[in-house]
Amino acid sequence: MAKLAKLDDIVSLCKRRGFIFQSSEIYGGLASCYDYGPLGVELKRNVRAAWWKTVVQMRDDVVGLDCSILMHPMVWKSSGHADKFADLVTVCKKCNTRSRVDHLAGHPEEHAGHVSIETAQADAQNLDKKACPSCGAVGKFSEPMAFKLMFETQMGANVDDTMTLFLRPETAQGIFANFKNVLDSTRVKIPFGIAQIGKAFRNEVTTKAFIFRTREFEQAELEFFCEPGTDEKWYEHWKQMRFDWYIDLGIKKANLRFREHDPDELAHYAKACVDVEYKFPFGSGDWQELEGIANRTDYDLRQHQRGMRSMNDWYENDRDLGKIDLKEEAEDYHKGPLSFFDEQKKQRYIPYVIEPSAGIDRSTLAFLVDAYDEEEVKGETRNLLRFHPALAPTKAAVFPLVKKDGMPEIAQKIYADLKGGFNCFYDQKGAIGRRYRRQDEAGTPYCITVDGQTKDDNTVTVRQRDSMQQERIAIDQVKTYLREKLDL
Ligand code: GAP
Repeated sequence: MAKLAKLDDIVSLCKRRGFIFQSSEIYGGLASCYDYGPLGVELKRNVRAAWWKTVVQMRDDVVGLDCSILMHPMVWKSSGHADKFADLVTVCKKCNTRSRVDHLAGHPEEHAGHVSIETAQADAQNLDKKACPSCGAVGKFSEPMAFKLMFETQMGANVDDTMTLFLRPETAQGIFANFKNVLDSTRVKIPFGIAQIGKAFRNEVTTKAFIFRTREFEQAELEFFCEPGTDEKWYEHWKQMRFDWYIDLGIKKANLRFREHDPDELAHYAKACVDVEYKFPFGSGDWQELEGIANRTDYDLRQHQRGMRSMNDWYENDRDLGKIDLKEEAEDYHKGPLSFFDEQKKQRYIPYVIEPSAGIDRSTLAFLVDAYDEEEVKGETRNLLRFHPALAPTKAAVFPLVKKDGMPEIAQKIYADLKGGFNCFYDQKGAIGRRYRRQDEAGTPYCITVDGQTKDDNTVTVRQRDSMQQERIAIDQVKTYLREKLDL
């Protein structure tokens, strides 16, 4: 039976084997920022590629997009982020620790990405009875304040002419802002989706648990546009698709579940929202949000239509976002610039949106945790990562048994032949057992070894990571063998 991983085991393996490092470590590190090392970058690329393949390439009704991180400030006014994307925080007067009010109030942290400011304000009523999580002092909190979660930056070289921009806190808004471009430039028809993978930034008050919640992270988001009235069907469709994606990539069913949001947890624009939760090895209840799937109704496109009409205010108010009044909705809003014309029904409407929103780093952590295993082999501990072949950073390692008798030359030839098709690794240093163990820890599914028999019959051994079983196959069959086994 697989051993349950502790977070410390994962962090230590990630550092030891070059999956993930603390950012700027040589200068003492930068909190909650991480760098992906040689194996980590391959793993993360594979997670991204697996998402893109399932959500975009394998479907006829989804197209991709790659927007800039910096966008016009009106995007964030219209989306509501400029005014509302904040956490209510308080500072302990005894030890100066800053805490989120909703966390102090006992909103289960694992369920709360960010609660609304209104909910947090209600939570603030009982602060005099709450204890500081850092020093334990009771009721010593400052007046709660809204802490904005978007990072600001300045664009423009001239002092007089700079513009305050935000690093995007989600990739979704770039999709809404390009909805019309995609409609006008492609043949998509509703129902259809636009997908994007990219960096997002949030100045989180509390970060935690390695790469689970960081201030710079990567999202994989799909906005699936559908006719109002069909939204509930599509919501169910995407719930199932996204759950199955994790299972198909090897996540154990026992570690994955849905958690439907209660009505009072829903964002004001959402009709329904469900989290796909994973049983991470940290936190109060272990179960933590891996991905959210929301029915966002027509809220975002309507908001951007309003925003487009308010653009003049933005210029007139000298670019002060706070003073802008998003204009009242026109009665015929459903015929506005971000509407869709249904040719068959001869009808215009603003589509509803189903949004599966996943975190690439958070999924990467879940895949690492789920794949981690330890077992006793001949009195020694074998650490291994039982990655699905599609996710494994290295697909095969090629070894000569010893560094002589022409074995390295044959192994090099096999390696050269394989590496164009698969991410492979060549290693001739050290005892063969140790080389196998290193690849087990890297999650490499197959090791190919050239030995004394190879010269006689042109065969090699192929060792499987999970079972450690070996079989002999002909050199000219290695590529086909791997292609079949890896299903690539
Ligand atoms: N557009 C909807 C949206 O952004 P979210 O629940 O705030 O929804 C979606 O984020 C996903 O992005 C989360 O389920 C998580 O996987 C990932 N995510 C959000 N904040 C994160 C953070 N600070 N660090 C790492 N991943 C994060």
